[in-house]
Parts: sequence; C-alpha cells; structure tokens
Amino acid sequence: MSELYPVPADFAARAHVDAAAYDRLYPASVADPQAYWREQAAFLDWMRPFTQVSDTRFDPEDLRIRWFADGTLNASVNCVDRHLPAKADIPAILWEGDRPGDSRTVTWGELSDKVNRLANVLSGLGIAKGDVVTIYLPVIPEAFIAMMACVRIGAVHSVVFSGFSAESLASRIEDAGAKLLITADEGYRGGRTVPLKRNADEAVAGQPSIRHVVVVRRSDGAVPFTPGRDVWYHEALAAAAPWCEPVEMGAEDPLFILYTSGSTGKPKGLVHTTGGYLVHAGTSWRTIFDWHEGDIFWCTADVGWVTAHSYKIYGPLLNGATSVMFEGVPSWPDSSRWWSIIERHRVNIFYTAPTALRSLMREGDGPVRRHDLSTLRVLGSVGEPINPEAWRWYHTVIGGGRCPIVDTYWQTETGAVLLTPIPGAVANKPGRAGKPYFGITPRVVDAQGGVIDGPGEGNMCFEGSWPGQARTILGDHDRFISTYFAPFPGLFFTGDGVLRDEDGYYCITGRVDDVINVSGHRLGTVELESAISSHPAVAESAVVGYPHEVKGQGVFAYVTLKDGIPATEDLRREIKDSVRARIGAIASPDIIQWAPALPKNRAGKILRRILTKVAADDFQNFGDTSTLADPGVVDDIVQRRKADK
Ligand code: PRX
Repeated sequence: MSELYPVPADFAARAHVDAAAYDRLYPASVADPQAYWREQAAFLDWMRPFTQVSDTRFDPEDLRIRWFADGTLNASVNCVDRHLPAKADIPAILWEGDRPGDSRTVTWGELSDKVNRLANVLSGLGIAKGDVVTIYLPVIPEAFIAMMACVRIGAVHSVVFSGFSAESLASRIEDAGAKLLITADEGYRGGRTVPLKRNADEAVAGQPSIRHVVVVRRSDGAVPFTPGRDVWYHEALAAAAPWCEPVEMGAEDPLFILYTSGSTGKPKGLVHTTGGYLVHAGTSWRTIFDWHEGDIFWCTADVGWVTAHSYKIYGPLLNGATSVMFEGVPSWPDSSRWWSIIERHRVNIFYTAPTALRSLMREGDGPVRRHDLSTLRVLGSVGEPINPEAWRWYHTVIGGGRCPIVDTYWQTETGAVLLTPIPGAVANKPGRAGKPYFGITPRVVDAQGGVIDGPGEGNMCFEGSWPGQARTILGDHDRFISTYFAPFPGLFFTGDGVLRDEDGYYCITGRVDDVINVSGHRLGTVELESAISSHPAVAESAVVGYPHEVKGQGVFAYVTLKDGIPATEDLRREIKDSVRARIGAIASPDIIQWAPALPKNRAGKILRRILTKVAADDFQNFGDTSTLADPGVVDDIVQRRKADK
C-alpha cells in the first residue's frame, strides 16, 4: 500500500475542481476534446471568434496540429488590457530584488502603460508582425513588459536564460534571425554582478540580423554603448506615445520561440502559437493551482524557462493575478530568503523545483521555522521527479501538513501541464505526478510500440493533440516529426520513461534519450560533449548523467586527452571553465574522469549504458559486452572510478 495523502476536506469544499467533478469531467473531456476545449477557449477575449476547434493528426507522414485556426486575438489584450480599469491600482507584480530591501510594486496600470510604450518603441525601431525579438534579461519586471510589448505588435519573443553564455545567446539569435535584442546593463544574483550587456555585445558582434539593442538600466555600472545601435530603455519609453494599437493575430500565428536541448547537438527552437497556447496555459494555471481572486502566487522559475512562460507570466497575467517575482537565489544572503519573501507578501500558492527544495532541506528546518508560512494553501513542483524525502519535507515543513502538492509534469514542447494531481480532486502520492489533466490522454508504450493497459512501465506518450503543444521546431520541421511523432506513429513521444501504478497514478522515471536533467534543466549530452571536445587538449569525450543528491542528476564526463598531454587538476578546471564559457554555468561538469579510451563497439559507437552504470557506481551487469572492440577499456574505467572515490 503506497503512501496516500487525501485532499483535505476544507480544501476540497472551496476548490474549483473536487474529486466528483474530476471523475465526471475528465472522462467527458477525453471522450470529446473538441467540446472541452471549445468551452475552455471562452476564457479568452477573441477579436474574431473561431468556427472550428481543431484539425489535428499525429501522422508522421501528414502531421497536422491546428487549434482555433480562424479565430483572431491579441495576447497582450488578454494578459493586460482586459484587467483594466478595474485593477489599475492593484499590484500585478510584487518584485523583490537580489539585495534584501530592494523591492518594487508594478500595478496593472503601470504594466499597461509600459507595455504600450515599449511596443511603440519597438515599432519605431522597425519591428513588425512576425519579427523575432530576443530577450536576455534577469528576473525583473521589464522581462514581463518586454514579452507583452512584443506580442502586442505581433512580434515573436525568444527569451534566452540570462545565465547562458554569449556563445549560447549568439547561436539562439542566429537560429531565429532575431532583429532586436532586449537586455540589461548588468544583473544581480546572489550578491554577484552578471555582465549581461558585455555578453550581449559579444553575442551580437557576429550577428548581422540584429539592428538594435534595447538596454534596461538595472545597475549603476558603466557599460559599453554603441550609438545608433543601442537604445536606453528608460529614455525611449519616456519619449514614446502611451497607447499602441494591438495587432490582430491569427490563433495559429507564432507567439514565441523557446529553445531547449535535445539529444542531438543543436538546441531546438520550439514554436508556440497564440490561440491554443493561451487557452491551455491560462485555464490550466487557474485549475492546477486552484487560484481564487486575491490569492498571491509565486513561481520561482527564471524567465528563461518554459515554466516561467506558462505559469509565471502568461498564466497569472491572463487571469489577472498578483504574482511575486524574485531576482535572486534562495541561499543568499542566507537560506531563509524565500521563506522571508513568502511571509512578507503573504504568498498563498508557491511553485518551485525539487532541486531547490533538496538544497534548502540540507540547511535543516531552522531557516523555515523563523518565518510565518501559514498563508500557503497550495504547493507545486516541476521540472524533474521529486523524490519522496523532499516531497515529505515540502509537505510537512513548508506546507505545515495542510497544503496539497501539485507535482506538475509537462515540457517545453507541451506548452502546459499534461499530468498532475489537481489539488482539490486527486489525493497526493509522494513521487507521483498524479493523473492526466483534462483533455489529455496518456499512453504507456513498450519498446515495440505496444500500448500497455493498466499498471506497467514504458515510454511516456500521449494520444490526440492538445492546444498548448508546440507546432514545430523553428527551421527544422523534419526534426520535429522525427523526434516526437515518428518513434511511435499516432502518438506524441516525450522522451521520458514512465510507470503507471495500480491506482492509475503516473510516476515519471526520467529521460530515456540522450538528455540529462540537471537541477531541472535539460541538457543534451551531445551538446555537452561538443563543448568539452572544443578544448584543445581533448581528443574525445562522453557525457552521462549520474545520481546527484541535490541536482537530481549531475554531469559526469569521461575525457580522453590528446597523446602526450598530462592529466592535471588544472586541466580539469580549465575544461570545466570552458564548458561554462561556451554554454553557461549550469552545464559545467560535476565530475571529470580521465579515460585513456572509451568503451566502443566494433562500429565505433560509444556504449553509454556501461558509462552510465560506472558513473552511478554500479559495477555489475554491464549486459552484453561481447560487442566491445576492446573489453579491457571497461576494466580500466571501473578501476579509475573506484580509485577516484
Ligand atoms: O524529463 C521530464 C522533466 O523535465 C522534462 C522537460 O523539461 P523542460 O522542457 O525544460 O520543461 C521543464 C518544466 C516543465 C521532461 O521531459 N520533468 C518535468 N516535469 C516533471 C519532470 N519529470 C518528473 N516529474 C515532473 N513533474
């Protein structure tokens, strides 16, 4: 009998969806998804109503994903204008800076004013419908403003995580052909300064598509400024007209691009569209967090990830909700920072990632107990499986034993949630991402493509479309089809493994492709290997994930050096630094093990299965090793791993 935490009765009594409603509505929603999503689409303000809900087919030969196709709307009207004038003086954003005491409130009125002005600035700089604007900003209100200003004029935003390097930024600008970059002079994180403008300048230097760089002033630091190309945000806004007519967009027009790592080298720019994405993100946000008017919501994700797109920015804005936004890190100046923010802003709904919980848990309960967290009502988890120990700590110490936890399973590709225990409806099981969301049909599929009914383990797939799903990979529709729709024809394949238990709960068991999940961030092993191998001393490398107490998975790199190069600690450090410079700090290897040779089969293919086992200190059951070109290589790798420990 697995551990079960029933929905508290008082919670269920006022929830949007209780158990009876879920049991009635879920089967109906998957029996007739068109009817379900038609009803949900009424949540938005459409300029021209749609006549057809969907036209979808998961056929790799003839892939079709279209939702609400002949409807028109504008995202910023839905996210901002429609909350006015009623909420003009109510906070939309309660912002906390990195340094305690540095805070700001942005009302819906101010948000609207800034969005309109920036939209005019962008138009004045030549940006028009369909152009891509890259946003490289820290977690400051201007990130929200920039995204909304883009979509007001029909420009497509591409937000790049501000922890990514200049090189990562450049490749994302190039892939998207972005015409304008919005960045800040500097950012602050954990008391450190992040040289955003310097990185931006380096990135833009080789990118002729960028015509202008709009720079938000966040620090007092002097930064290089290129007259003619660079524009100060505050100066341009002050001079801009306060009203910008929103552009009418087709439901299938792109809303944004967001890059994520895949199992081959190049990051993929997933394209999300206006109508379907907003319907799915906006309605699911309200349901899964059981938000009620007046609740204060806080999602800790950085604006560079999909979690923030759907459930920090679009979800709350579409619903007219007040959100907390925090620029810094949970451990600075001390590990009670998050808890003090929850207390100060009387946060009701808190959404974060297991990796942060695991690191805070290590500090003990003391930093939490110093603060009043009694306003919390719902807790959320996202990005990676949450281990039961962290789940219990979250539930007991943070949630006081009274808050349901929504373990939300979804992806950049899916746009919004697919599996979760809806908090008023589905009892919690630690470590299980609950049950399907409305309109979503999960399938557990074996290696041969056979659908498993009832309890079982296999590949996590979904049947039928849902409006929030990405429509393509920018510039590479073939890769979109081959990655997600070709492996199991008729189904969408997530790249994850899954276990469904006897009660119909889903437990995501991790990636089954060459992607690793480090602190909830997706990293492609091929991308990591090419960063490592670009170091001049490296002949070859192979990267695998290994179990890491805090990060979930850590980056384990086996590195073969060029002949005659001595393996030194300095070189280890240099290789780590070069990965940091090429991709960003999140990708820096946790462990580098020198490997005079890598285990390969006779065709030269690296046998990662063996490398993964050794990295996890599992020195047995290597499976069929008869295909190894040189069996001695494995012994050597095992001996070195044992010696390094
Ligand atoms: O492996 C799954 C894991 O994160 C991957 C998606 O990463 P990304 O596109 O960056 O989006 C993260 C935020 C939605 C998935 O393929 N993942 C995400 N949520 C969960 C999860 N694994 C287990 N449980 C979850 N709740």
